Amino acid sequence: MKKILLLIVAMVLVASTAFAWTVVGSRHDLSSANVGGQVCVFCHTPHNANTSAGPLWSHSTSIATFTLYTSATLDNAIGQPSGMSKACMGCHDGTVGVGVISNGRTKGWFATTGHDGAASYASGGAILNTNAAYIGTDLRDDHPVSIEYSAVADTGLRAPTGDTVVNGLVTLQLYGAGPTYKVECASCHNVHNNTAVPFLRTSNSNSQICTTCHLK
Ligand code: HEC
Ligand code: HEC
Ligand code: HEC
Ligand code: HEC
Repeated sequence: MKKILLLIVAMVLVASTAFAWTVVGSRHDLSSANVGGQVCVFCHTPHNANTSAGPLWSHSTSIATFTLYTSATLDNAIGQPSGMSKACMGCHDGTVGVGVISNGRTKGWFATTGHDGAASYASGGAILNTNAAYIGTDLRDDHPVSIEYSAVADTGLRAPTGDTVVNGLVTLQLYGAGPTYKVECASCHNVHNNTAVPFLRTSNSNSQICTTCHLK
């Protein structure tokens, strides 16, 4: 009896670890909303991808014009969200339905068209506009994204190594075309892994994410 109980406990532990480490079962697992039970399809598609955002991107990106972060002490150039941040904002700015995807077989489930310029942005499934995951289109109250990362322009930043910033065991990713790469949502977040809640690249204990870039 005891052995069986231990076995069950072990199985539950294995199962929960396996779930915690992947998209499956995380808050980015939207498969319950999808009649095909797929998980990756909300963000990726093997064909007919939206080439203006993330890799093999399935979701429509936002067409909103954002109010950008601004401050008198800002040294680096900032622009409208691009690339990897636009990919997140397709769901997190609250203007596009979570299900507006361009996967060939599934796009009819939630919206009539996919890709940018879709006629039916708001009709594709639930819109994130009320809970904590809602970032909105006003980015004045958010850490700047699509901002250049130059330790020359701001000497309070750690010098990057190509498109990464490395501090001990922590490596954060910068994006875009060099030589001056940019900070995007995915510099701090890893959408595939919610081990460090909420989907952070690594634990932020001792604010180690912040102090990897900022010499503070
Ligand atoms: C909520 C959106 C989202 C979901 C769901 C998602 N991904 Fe991703 N995926 C991304 C983003 C954003 C990137 C780019 C991240 C980066 O480059 O930092 C990415 C990158 C990738 C890459 C290339 C880079 C790498 O990490 O190897 C692969 C492969 C990938 N995803 C596979 C998957 C698979 C398989 C699934 C389903 C089990 C999945 N993704 C589900 C958003 C998602
Ligand atoms: C396909 C739509 C979609 C895309 C694309 C997407 N997300 Fe999400 N995200 C969601 C949904 C839906 C939730 C869960 C909301 C809930 O549980 O109420 C979520 C949750 C999160 C959370 C956790 C919020 C919390 O309170 O725990 C974070 C952090 C997050 N997303 C970051 C990102 C980042 C960064 C990207 C881009 C690299 C991204 N997401 C791309 C739909 C998306
Ligand atoms: C400079 C690092 C950094 C960048 C860039 C960043 N985030 Fe976050 N984000 C965090 C951290 C750290 C938390 C956790 C905050 C906490 O719980 O103390 C967080 C929390 C969140 C949450 C959970 C809700 C909340 O308000 O705490 C969501 C959703 C989210 N981020 C989405 C995004 C999206 C979308 C982008 C791009 C527009 C983005 N993040 C850019 C560091 C970042
Ligand atoms: C991937 C690198 C990176 C990470 C990680 C990061 N930052 Fe930043 N942060 C920047 C850049 C680049 C700027 C723009 C600085 C400038 O040009 O003045 C910035 C700007 C800021 C500003 C505004 C500065 C101003 O003059 O208005 C604050 C405050 C800030 N970051 C705090 C944080 C905190 C807190 C964290 C951790 C949650 C964090 N940052 C994580 C790169 C990063």
